[in-house]
Amino acid sequence: MAPAAAPRPKVIAFANQKGGVAKTTTTLNLAAAFAEEGHRVLCVDMDPQGNLTMSQGIDPDTVEPSMYDVLVHDVPITEAIRTVEMDIACASIDLAGAEIAMSTKIGRERSLEKAFRTINGDYDFICIDTPPSLGLLTINALTAADKVIVPVQCEYLSMRGLLQLQNTLSMIRENLNPDVQIEGILPTLVDARTLHAQEALELLEENFGDQVFASRIKKTVRFAEAPVKGMSVLRYEPNGPAADSYRQLAKEVLSHGQR
Ligand SMILES: Nc1ncnc2c1ncn2[C@@H]1O[C@H](COP(=O)(O)OP(=O)(O)OP(=O)(O)O)[C@@H](O)[C@H]1O
Ligand SMILES: [Mg+2]
Repeated sequence: MAPAAAPRPKVIAFANQKGGVAKTTTTLNLAAAFAEEGHRVLCVDMDPQGNLTMSQGIDPDTVEPSMYDVLVHDVPITEAIRTVEMDIACASIDLAGAEIAMSTKIGRERSLEKAFRTINGDYDFICIDTPPSLGLLTINALTAADKVIVPVQCEYLSMRGLLQLQNTLSMIRENLNPDVQIEGILPTLVDARTLHAQEALELLEENFGDQVFASRIKKTVRFAEAPVKGMSVLRYEPNGPAADSYRQLAKEVLSHGQR
């Protein structure tokens, strides 16, 4: 009998071309919640801003090699991984030049997917943070992903951007990755006290139905405090409601089954 193939990790990209909607916060804290459940997790920082890398206390100025070298020079991704709360493949400032450096490369949309091939057996989940754009770095993430989690700040304007993201995903499915699906849309920075937030949540559910997670991430200053200490909120305030909201989200994602 042929040996069973090593199980593949579930690869989740966190994407929304709108800035400041909690992509990085969600990548880190959901990954921390998976790790707390005993899963082997890798986070990947595909954003030249390096916020995910920084939020684990790592200085993107000192990372060598980084995701830039992985994407542009095919350096093994294991060489860009540092371990803090979990494994993290780090960004450096020069990642900003990666889109141009990759633009003439054959298979430029598949560089990340290719980098994952050597580590598939090592992780249960790979969580990819993306920049606030739909450029080549985000396209690499969506091409390598099984699922996409879309954090949205509950405002009318940010919802219009969701349609654009859906169009990009259709294009990715047609040309690069037929199986990629939205795992869910996550309302973030929710201020439950305002009528505007309530109305925005209702509108989101009207338009996107059960694609919207039941979990809600409320606004709290803990999410700004934790990264300054180089920690996830789950480590910074393990018993607080902010940590619990991401544990709840982890339960929802895990109950959707293994792909
Ligand atoms: N639930 C929350 N409550 C309050 N502040 C939050 C919450 N989630 C995130 N923040 C803060 O909001 C800011 C934006 O969050 P984050 O960096 O995760 O967004 P992003 O979508 O990754 O941004 P960018 O598009 O620039 O990459 C950060 O300062 C973060 O600490
Ligand atoms: Mg970010």
